[in-house]
Amino acid sequence: LVKCRHISQCIRLAEAAEDADLYHEYNETLEFEYYNSMLINTVDENGNPLPLGGEFLLEPNEHFNKLPVNTQQSNIQVPTNVYNRDPDILNGVYMSEALNDVFIENFQKDPTLTWQYFGSSTGFFRLYPGIQWIPDENGVSTFDCRNRNWYIQAATSPKDVVIVVDVSGSMKGLRLTIAKHTINTILDTLGENDFVNIIAYSDYVRYVEPCFKGTLVQADLDNREAATLGQGSLCNQAIMLITDGAMEDFQDVFEEFNWPERRVRVFTYLIGREMTFAENVKWIACNNKGYYTHISTLADVQENVMEYLHVLSRPMVINHDHDIIWTEAYMDSVLFNTQAQSLLLMTSVAMPVFSKKKETLSHGILLGVVGTDVALKELMRLAPRYKLGVHGYAFLITNNGYILSHPDLRPLVQTTIL
Ligand SMILES: *[C@@H]1O[C@H](CO)[C@@H](O)[C@H](O)[C@H]1NC(C)=O
Repeated sequence: LVKCRHISQCIRLAEAAEDADLYHEYNETLEFEYYNSMLINTVDENGNPLPLGGEFLLEPNEHFNKLPVNTQQSNIQVPTNVYNRDPDILNGVYMSEALNDVFIENFQKDPTLTWQYFGSSTGFFRLYPGIQWIPDENGVSTFDCRNRNWYIQAATSPKDVVIVVDVSGSMKGLRLTIAKHTINTILDTLGENDFVNIIAYSDYVRYVEPCFKGTLVQADLDNREAATLGQGSLCNQAIMLITDGAMEDFQDVFEEFNWPERRVRVFTYLIGREMTFAENVKWIACNNKGYYTHISTLADVQENVMEYLHVLSRPMVINHDHDIIWTEAYMDSVLFNTQAQSLLLMTSVAMPVFSKKKETLSHGILLGVVGTDVALKELMRLAPRYKLGVHGYAFLITNNGYILSHPDLRPLVQTTIL
């Protein structure tokens, strides 16, 4: 199974993305029009196509459950809080055009494939086949590929995270709102292989979730409410300190518990406009192999939180076979919404993409994650009944220990998009 074709398709995408980046020279003033999946096929009040929109051919496709798609090209989704003409976005979209040919070739060779995609660390999401992206109820697109399970699992190593939040008197109003949003955004970046707990402090310290006292819980969706308690992943360990500043002597604490190895990285998030304590907060991060960020508005949260993923990203490996991940089974929402009687269980095969540029090679710069979605029934076809013998049966288990499919077990499913 490990050598099945879905891995080679994914590797082809990763290599195409790495090569495209290698030969692309960053251009700060690049001007470039691309098909933004939120803006295509729509016009302004004068009947003119929107910038980054324009006519994009879509045809209902049986294989995608009659969803209108364009199998000739991919297009781009950018979350509303990311500027869709930011030079980083334009350069990334421009260089990743090279993936189009690979998407098409993969699909021609293997018509059982469904979605293929590249999620960029800058925030854009290139999806094949191209589709029209439907805005949320609020008319925006909050979908951010960087906090999808497949992205996080492929981009980062398992981690133990303790979020420590300052709830002293000054943390109120907007600051408190930003702090809460920061916590939620950090939680969104955690996947099933991660462990987490949250501690609040003012004059005294308490666990935000009392049942999880003194331990770490697996960061999957259900377990944020209850369930498996454990020792943690014991891989990457990090403390996320969220504070608006006021703090006293702390050097001794780090000296006693974290130095000289600095096994636990400390990331600090300074909330609000007050900069008096910025130096202290920065000092903590810099002396504990972490990263300091200042978050003064709600709009800053997402991008600032994402920064830590670069620090905890997977080590770059030369042989792509080793960093492939398979997500746990989930329900395809496109099919889920439209054809309840044939619910399809899916898995995503994903792998990280790193810069191969000479200047950055030693830092292992993460460009993003490529992935493909595969129906479990297609995987099961790799082990046809007639080959298994009388009492034989096939089951699927991923390299990180999820049972994807087993005749006696129905996998636990979540309804997610992609
Ligand atoms: C950068 O992009 C601009 C606009 O597309 C172009 O005019 C310029 O020549 C490019 N610069 C380089 C160095 O390619």
